[in-house]
Amino acid sequence: MYQHTRELQFTAKPEKPDALFAAKFQEILGGQFGEMTVMMQYLFQGWNCRVPGKYKDMIMDIGTEEISHVEMLTVMLARLLEGAPGETTEKAAAANPVLAAVLGGQNPQHAIVSGGGARPTDSQGNPWNAGYIVSSGNLLTDFRSNAAAEGQSRLMTSRIANMTDDRGVKDMLAFNLARDTYHQQQWLLGIQMLVEEGYTESEIERSNGDWENKDAAHVFYTSTNGSRAGEGLWATGNSVVDGEPFRAEPLRPLTEDDGVLPAPDPLQFVTYDGSQGPGKPGNAAGAAAQQAENVVTKVKDAITGDKH
Ligand SMILES: [Fe+2]
Repeated sequence: MYQHTRELQFTAKPEKPDALFAAKFQEILGGQFGEMTVMMQYLFQGWNCRVPGKYKDMIMDIGTEEISHVEMLTVMLARLLEGAPGETTEKAAAANPVLAAVLGGQNPQHAIVSGGGARPTDSQGNPWNAGYIVSSGNLLTDFRSNAAAEGQSRLMTSRIANMTDDRGVKDMLAFNLARDTYHQQQWLLGIQMLVEEGYTESEIERSNGDWENKDAAHVFYTSTNGSRAGEGLWATGNSVVDGEPFRAEPLRPLTEDDGVLPAPDPLQFVTYDGSQGPGKPGNAAGAAAQQAENVVTKVKDAITGDKH
């Protein structure tokens, strides 16, 4: 369960309102790599975490901290929007009519939809999307994604910070930048611990590694004329999984399969030259029959010991 403390995690007071900056600021709240994304990503990872103790607690702790960041940003946005639209739009238009015309002065949804409040959207007004988050149930994959999310999120925070001279905004963002610096390390150290404690054999996600195509796991394929990519460690070093050397090879077909597709169902009216013979008309019953046949094959394989 959650409780709420009235005080913010950190002060969110701009020196003065700035509706134009507020429109940009929305990106680090509701954009793909904004605070809403890391908040939802960590909360879902934490709620789904099946390792009680320090891992689950750490994920829940940071997820809850990110709720606090979303809260700080919404408060900052509402304060930046104070007095908008009239006053700020007029000033901006007077100072730079072209800019005012291009940007339309401010995010119209701040004036029309939220009445001077923050919106769960990015700087272009796109609604925050649950498809932005990664919550795989696999802590190695999740932590990798989290370190990357903190990196992109920190970059965007830096860029936004460089778009304003407001001391109050910069003071708050100095805190956010520091948290993103710390959080990147938290996830990378988390990965290190997962390896040390035997939750994963290496820092590479390798499920079904016992039957993956071994040869393909050691090659860098080059496809650029005169490529120098073969000079990198990914081509000259050794696999962190099995210690075997990597190599670089030109990208080429490893098969004779030319990818010719089966004849289309005539009822789908797909453009077709007839070279694969007549197509089989399909229906839902056909799909069910195919499914039943596949199950029978699976059972047979299980009895005869045929893998995958
Ligand atoms: Fe954050």
